[in-house]
Amino acid sequence: MTIPFYLGQQVNRALATAGLELPEGFAAVVTPAADTRFGDYQTNAAMVLAKVMKMNPRVLAEQIAGVVETGGLCGTPTVAGAGFINFSVLPEALAGKLEALLGDDRLGVGEVEEKRTVVIDFSAPNVAKQMHVGHIRSTIIGDCLARTARFVGHRVITDNHIGDWGTQFGMVLYGWKRELDAAALAADPIRELLRLYKAVNAQSKGEEVAKEAGERADTPTRDACKAELVKLQAGDAENLAIWEQCVAVSKAGLETVYEKLDVGFDHWLGESYYNGMLSGVVKELEEKGIARESEGAVCVFFDDIPAMADKAPFIVRKSDGGFGYATTDVATVKHRVETWGADAIWYVVGAPQALHFEQLFATVGRMGLQPELKHIAFGSILGADGKMMKTRSGESVGLLEVLEEAEERARATVEEKNPDLTEEEKLEIASAVGIGAVKYQELSQGRLTDYKFVWDKMLAFQGNTAPYLQYSYVRTRSIFRKLEGEVVLAGPYVITEKEEKELALTLCRFAEAVPAVLEDFRPNVLAGYVYDLARAFHSFFEACPVLRAEGEQRATRLALCELTSRVLRKGLELMGIRVTEKM
Ligand code: ARG
Repeated sequence: MTIPFYLGQQVNRALATAGLELPEGFAAVVTPAADTRFGDYQTNAAMVLAKVMKMNPRVLAEQIAGVVETGGLCGTPTVAGAGFINFSVLPEALAGKLEALLGDDRLGVGEVEEKRTVVIDFSAPNVAKQMHVGHIRSTIIGDCLARTARFVGHRVITDNHIGDWGTQFGMVLYGWKRELDAAALAADPIRELLRLYKAVNAQSKGEEVAKEAGERADTPTRDACKAELVKLQAGDAENLAIWEQCVAVSKAGLETVYEKLDVGFDHWLGESYYNGMLSGVVKELEEKGIARESEGAVCVFFDDIPAMADKAPFIVRKSDGGFGYATTDVATVKHRVETWGADAIWYVVGAPQALHFEQLFATVGRMGLQPELKHIAFGSILGADGKMMKTRSGESVGLLEVLEEAEERARATVEEKNPDLTEEEKLEIASAVGIGAVKYQELSQGRLTDYKFVWDKMLAFQGNTAPYLQYSYVRTRSIFRKLEGEVVLAGPYVITEKEEKELALTLCRFAEAVPAVLEDFRPNVLAGYVYDLARAFHSFFEACPVLRAEGEQRATRLALCELTSRVLRKGLELMGIRVTEKM
């Protein structure tokens, strides 16, 4: 149980025993103090209550403070300002908490009472196109949410819903049959697929532009590509064989990226997986009166939902008879609920798809499917110039190249700071630091804001960066290396200095930070916490000598170092960031 949760309970108990007539459903909430000069935690309960009960807030606050029982955790609460009740955690109580944390492999983080089956849909790039830097956001945020949800006890199923059935395949098939370069395919298959896709796409776009300008009457390439796609989706053997080859090659390429990122999936059920269910889904929607024909297509309308009434309908069968992204996603929800027993499905997908998900959620709701459905949206990644991140030739930047560059840059820093490490150590550190920096830059932002991708900033050893946190971890470990195994972590512990107290309290707050990530899907809460912890550690480390201290003080400081190291490591692990023992 977290400290604020416990204190909240105690305040509510005090209110109940004080014989006050509380408004229906009222519960006091205790939060970290806004101003730590007055205490560590606070509640505004007296102010809220005084308003409804037409009482003097300070008088009420004093009355409550006088009867709250904190079981030795805090001294008598004090009242400040307009009626805040403040709690200061006692050093003896914190020492006891240290002891408890040291013996707890969950580091104080509780398990949720209601364990749910949560499907997390993230990354999901479109194959035969390049996985680009924009996919960083979905992949890294999704992975952090999956790790966190697992840690708090949910049954998590991660599913990479790759786009392996869409219009790009019409183009790839068209190009494959006309201008495939077999040698290039053998040498670098993804590059060759990409070349085909781009060449055909450009040709098709060119025709469309010309048609629009009145320079030509038809768009033969686009039509031919569409025909290839229809053939594929209808099960044409030749097209299926080519498609299978393309998907296999693309998956292998994606695997390289995921391996570098240390991201894994329980399933890779892409769009194609649902092909056989699509006509059944449309039939069900029509039979239940959820979808109807309109201008040759079959659509779901949302005239009764004001925010969606004036938008285009959700098209589950196009006028040419084909099914698209919408139909596939309906089938996907059904599958996840019916086969996996999903209680919740979280989609980590960019903000531009907001309407698609609103329509999807409303549609499956009408079908009677009731899992919790969340679209966890995010903004864009910008280049250092503040514009959309592009290569010099104007294309989107490939993710693999970005990750390789991150490792190379980190490698140069390691070389400069610590040239005596072995080659193996240098590579390991460069990878942990480079990849960690990219991930942390992502996770430390509010997910809805756009952010700039700036190498020097994310790789700096000072400031709110992964290298700073990883270096803090190394520092906690170096103490124990100096002790050469002599360490015995044994109390009793005593907390006397304010830096010790601050660090101990911050360690206890890991239990508050982890569940908060899932409240509104904000990995940046965890990132902010880990950063606070590292800073509290550095202040402590500067003010309080560890190895030169003696007796209980030395034991306490060693315990603080050990716990800081464990919590840093676990916190970073939940973000998918590795630590190393040296740097
Ligand atoms: N492939 C899609 C894209 O890159 C994302 C898919 C997200 N998941 C889903 N079930 N729609 O835009």
